[in-house]
Amino acid sequence: MDGTLGISEVDQKEFDALIADALTGLTAPQKSLSPKWLYDHHGSALFEQITNLPEYYPTRTEAGILRNHAAALSGLVPHDGALVELGSGASIKTRTLLDVGSHFGTYVPIDISRDFLMQTADDLQNRYPALKIAPLVADFSAPVTMPDPLAQIPKVGFFPGSTIGNLTPERAKALLAGVRAWDGITAFIVGMDMVKDTKELVAAYDDAQGVTAKFIKNILVRLNREAGANFDTEAFRYQASWDSELARIDMHLVSAHDQHIRLAGHTIAFQAEEAIHISAARKYTPESVRELAQSTGWDVAIRYTDADARFSVVVLTPCM
Ligand SMILES: C[S@@+](CC[C@H](N)C(=O)[O-])C[C@H]1O[C@@H](n2cnc3c(N)ncnc32)[C@H](O)[C@@H]1O
Repeated sequence: MDGTLGISEVDQKEFDALIADALTGLTAPQKSLSPKWLYDHHGSALFEQITNLPEYYPTRTEAGILRNHAAALSGLVPHDGALVELGSGASIKTRTLLDVGSHFGTYVPIDISRDFLMQTADDLQNRYPALKIAPLVADFSAPVTMPDPLAQIPKVGFFPGSTIGNLTPERAKALLAGVRAWDGITAFIVGMDMVKDTKELVAAYDDAQGVTAKFIKNILVRLNREAGANFDTEAFRYQASWDSELARIDMHLVSAHDQHIRLAGHTIAFQAEEAIHISAARKYTPESVRELAQSTGWDVAIRYTDADARFSVVVLTPCM
């Protein structure tokens, strides 16, 4: 799945990257952790729970748009071509396109969450026996290189879930430009959440059942388990807030009191109320969608929305 690396080398590389990232983030003046570490197997399962929460409108809304336009969207994939999905997770919404995409040659789900990806790929292969399922473990915060023979075949990129909103503006641009540079790319379908009422936005990221809080705190659980850290998860409070200037929801874990944490031989001091920035969810306007596309070599061919314009499924085509 990942070229020449064996499992233990992959695990060691991931372990080293986790420790290096965590130490860099937690020793910076504004403490942070990269959201990509939220998605171990448990984190991926918690995210699936979030998608079914009453407050979490993005999944339902995007799924509705995909259902309404499934024929047009799947029709973008060339005959025997590939649908290549970044951050595929459980690939639930993707089934809407696969169900009507009998002309697809290959589906390539790409995710950083290895076990979850492999399990999903097996399930999909049983569900769609005639379709080639070619899972790829990769980190899309670096350029994603398609292995042969996938590199050569005509393909459409798919990036639903408003996952693009979790990237910094620079990373989002780099990802769009990277996909634009893939051989044989004919279109890129991107799910983007739109700016809306603040209360509705904050509730979507701070649900009454506390599932999102559990999902975000799972990053500390993971650091305890995989990096031998000693975070007391009860000593951190989850907080979601809207930043109107940057048009994004910020997700933080806030230290309840002064405390010291041990991580990989280092001691990290936290003051009471000091926050670790874990994730951001950027929201878009029609103008910011267009600007992002145009700055990375794409045209906005179509922007499908729901009746209340809460979410957009954007079809980008290479600008000539
Ligand atoms: C917000 S979820 C979206 C899942 C699914 N596409 C959906 O629409 O419901 C983000 C997905 O991206 C994956 N992911 C997050 N950061 C990643 C990275 N840097 N590289 C590859 N996959 C990543 C996660 O494991 C997760 O499955």
